[in-house]
Amino acid sequence: MSPTLRTRIACTVYPSPRAAALAVADELRVRLAGYPSLVLGLPTGNTPVPFYQELIRLHRASLLSLAQATSFNLDEYLGLAPGDPRSFRAWMQAQLFSQVDLPANRTHLPDPVEPAAAAEESRRYELLIREAGGVDWMLLGIGRNGHIGFNEPGSPRTSRTRLVELEAKTIADAAKTFGGEQHVPRRAITMGIGTILEARAIRVMAFGSAKAEIVQRALTGEPTELVPASLLAGHADVRFLLDTESARLLSQ
Ligand code: F6R
Repeated sequence: MSPTLRTRIACTVYPSPRAAALAVADELRVRLAGYPSLVLGLPTGNTPVPFYQELIRLHRASLLSLAQATSFNLDEYLGLAPGDPRSFRAWMQAQLFSQVDLPANRTHLPDPVEPAAAAEESRRYELLIREAGGVDWMLLGIGRNGHIGFNEPGSPRTSRTRLVELEAKTIADAAKTFGGEQHVPRRAITMGIGTILEARAIRVMAFGSAKAEIVQRALTGEPTELVPASLLAGHADVRFLLDTESARLLSQ
């Protein structure tokens, strides 16, 4: 467990990404045991992989059930064909949905529509979240530029689900999945920062030294739209879960 760090947002530092992922998975296990119809907000990316692996392990050991839960992913690329293996829908299917008992009709991601249909799709997504009663427990990663979901620097604090243009850093980070930067979609739909802030509890995982600088800015700087994750300060129930490498620039 971590020493107490002087940060604007609560954080816990774990010896490894796996240790942090096990702690988050255990929190979710306990929450689901008390309230099986939890509404989850979920990310894709490298960061949540050990967390999803632990959920699968707990499910196989009959220690966790998502049979009554609902999930809303944060974001999806635009302009991909439905079923494209590089879509976040396909990624979630492979990494989690196909291996746990979350009912398929209660797993939600924005549809990878053409940009012209994005405004309508964004409204539909916001409405679905509202009809589900809002997100109870939201898990986030953080981009090297401080984005949460695909809310790039400059995204308004009050933003809702909408079409966004991806920044160069975000495109570079996705290049491997798409076989080169030139193939990465330039646009996506993301839950807004306002949408994310309405979740009742928010957990943010960040691992590795490449995240150390942005973690320091998000946790210790003035909240600013230039570092979207810093806007989580002031939420009633938010916590960052770090490993020693991503926490290395935080002073005690
Ligand atoms: C993904 C998402 C992004 C990622 C962030 C970190 O659904 O919303 O904000 O969480 O880009 O990505 P990784 O975990 O790959 O470093």
